[in-house]
Amino acid sequence: MADKQGVRWRVLVVGATGTLGRAVAAELGARHEIISAGRTSGDLRLDLSDAASICDALAQVGKLDAVVSAAGHVEFAPLADFQPAGIGESRHTLGLTSKLLGQINLALAARDQLRDGGSITLTTGITFEHPIAGGSSASMVNGALEGFVRSAAIELPRGLRINAVSPNVLVEASPAIRAIFPGFEPVPAARAALAFTRSVEGRQTGQVYRVF
Ligand SMILES: NC(=O)c1ccc[n+]([C@@H]2O[C@H](COP(=O)([O-])OP(=O)(O)OC[C@H]3O[C@@H](n4cnc5c(N)ncnc54)[C@H](OP(=O)(O)O)[C@@H]3O)[C@@H](O)[C@H]2O)c1
Repeated sequence: MADKQGVRWRVLVVGATGTLGRAVAAELGARHEIISAGRTSGDLRLDLSDAASICDALAQVGKLDAVVSAAGHVEFAPLADFQPAGIGESRHTLGLTSKLLGQINLALAARDQLRDGGSITLTTGITFEHPIAGGSSASMVNGALEGFVRSAAIELPRGLRINAVSPNVLVEASPAIRAIFPGFEPVPAARAALAFTRSVEGRQTGQVYRVF
């Protein structure tokens, strides 16, 4: 891992067929072997909301140099729609099991599968720092992920690193998604993908790369 000159790393990209993930896979795929993963797409089937499926997929894939997540679902809905409820009983908790716990479980499974010095890169989003109407659940999930990344970085063994990328809404996002970010300047997915390269090929850990 110390010398990447001419060496194609094995990089798992969860969500490689998505709006963000396609750009990430293309950017990293220029220099590395990409193993794509998703619930219904990719080289490997893995559901972030199912811890066992994450562990099974990582056990199958063999040694990796980097694990990247460009996946995870969050619900955008008015706060008024949310009622006190346990996990799984209300829409505002869906992001907890998918985007938050799913990516954390992926990071924990990756810890045991990565080569020494390998990296983990998760995806958060701009709503943590720049709230939007209907974005409270997304803000909660993104903030929690960023806290996890900063803290896990100081405990990971074997020189492993962990970072997050927090993109603005993407140029390629659907009109429906862009409409809930009024006045935000969308960024191209290819620009957001560069932040994943900073995480995978750089040396920093515990960072949140903001692509605003
Ligand atoms: N789009 C934006 O403007 C934007 C901006 C900032 C942050 N983000 C964040 O970026 C991430 C990806 O967003 P996106 O817009 O690219 O999503 P997307 O276009 O809907 O693509 C999602 C990708 O993830 C996979 N996926 C979905 N659920 C999964 C699960 N439970 N387990 C494993 N894989 C799963 C999908 O493949 P399968 O269907 O085969 O599972 C697909 O490859 C999300 O966390 C989102 O919050 C997006």
